[in-house]
Amino acid sequence: MNAIDPNPSALSDLSRVFRTDFQWGSATSAAQIEGAAALDGKGPSIWDRFCAEPGRINDGSNIAIACDHYHRYKNDVALMKWMGLQAYRFSIAWPRVQPLGRGTWNEAGFAFYDRLIDELLAAGIKPHATLYHWDLPAALHDEFDGWPSRQIVPLFADYAAEVARRFGDRLESISTLNEPWCVATLGYETAQFAPGQTSRATAAQVSHHLLLAHGEAIKAMRAVTKCKLGIVLNHTPAFPADNLREDDRRAARIDDGLNVRWYMDPVFRGQYPADIIEHLGEDAPKIEEGDLAAIQQPLDFLGVNFYTRSFISTQSPALPAPGKQGFTDMGWEIYPKALTQHLVRITREYSPPPIFITENGMANADTVVDGKVPDVERIAYLRSHLQALASAVELGVDVRGYFYWSLLDNFEWNSGYTKRFGLFHVDYATQERLAKDSAHWYRGFIETAKAGG
Ligand code: FCB
Repeated sequence: MNAIDPNPSALSDLSRVFRTDFQWGSATSAAQIEGAAALDGKGPSIWDRFCAEPGRINDGSNIAIACDHYHRYKNDVALMKWMGLQAYRFSIAWPRVQPLGRGTWNEAGFAFYDRLIDELLAAGIKPHATLYHWDLPAALHDEFDGWPSRQIVPLFADYAAEVARRFGDRLESISTLNEPWCVATLGYETAQFAPGQTSRATAAQVSHHLLLAHGEAIKAMRAVTKCKLGIVLNHTPAFPADNLREDDRRAARIDDGLNVRWYMDPVFRGQYPADIIEHLGEDAPKIEEGDLAAIQQPLDFLGVNFYTRSFISTQSPALPAPGKQGFTDMGWEIYPKALTQHLVRITREYSPPPIFITENGMANADTVVDGKVPDVERIAYLRSHLQALASAVELGVDVRGYFYWSLLDNFEWNSGYTKRFGLFHVDYATQERLAKDSAHWYRGFIETAKAGG
């Protein structure tokens, strides 16, 4: 055990709660780390475009190089191996393998993922791929507006089937979408993310097309692979600031409905929540007959991304979140208890398939001090969330794996490179990677878990 944890037996008690085949991993996404934005035939994505629009990215940066993972993947897999990771979650850039989002496949693009998967397997690390982590081929946006158009649904299913056909036998899992709530709401309603639009009605229609594309992709992939298939949803459970205020309770219920139930209900129950349809009113999406049946496909797992909770106050001025355990560098409240509560809740309400925590982590204002990164805040965050996860397991939630977000400091969307989420610090001028103290801590924890606690 390394010197960072003063109490190794506590770690061993903690790790013993999890199944012996539990997968300890870390996650990234293509647009945030790969770079090589226009190399080897890759087409532009809506994020390449978005970065070029003045004022969109806080530090004015772009993803042309990012962490240069496209060229450094071998080194990055070696870092994972050093940490003892058993699993790695990455995403495939659709415009890298199909530059126009339809028609011709780009063999050079597929070859990159082929090499990456081989490298992971050789290192004994299980590869988990996500098909859509927000980098839509720009051509699809230009041709017919992208996700607001229903025409995208069969195109996504074709892309999914092609990936499954080529890589399904070597991948541990394939997820269709990462966080459709973010794609729809932040991309089409609040304009924080690409493509930067501001219409609630469009966002609602986009969410429906995303879910439909998920369902059709699952069907298309089932026909060609036995690989485990699922979806990744971001869950930020909402808490009323004042439980005694009816307004707060109602607002929290709507917030939960938009973030959690709007996606969980169609995927696992084949229906949209009636209160949210009513809340959306004229902005509710157009739904065709058979759509909900297409969305409700049997899944092999559910990916849950958990970072924080929403603290909902209708008072003016709004009651601030208490933040007893602090806030991250994103300003997100650290509230691990919500992870336990939420996992127990969705298990009761939806009886989902086995759960993977596909993302969990914190941004921290890390600095290098004498060749080390003393990120005690991240170690505390990690430890408290693993404890919360263990509590959920003890309460009967079926969790099979955990992916820390993220392996590397990387491009944090509209925050550019100003927010550091990594277990490894990245010096963007030299591309040097440095294991933070949290990477050492996680390495020790995984070692203990592998030894049987
Ligand atoms: C999630 C995204 C991921 C990363 C983290 C911090 O919403 O899936 O790409 O940006 O937040």
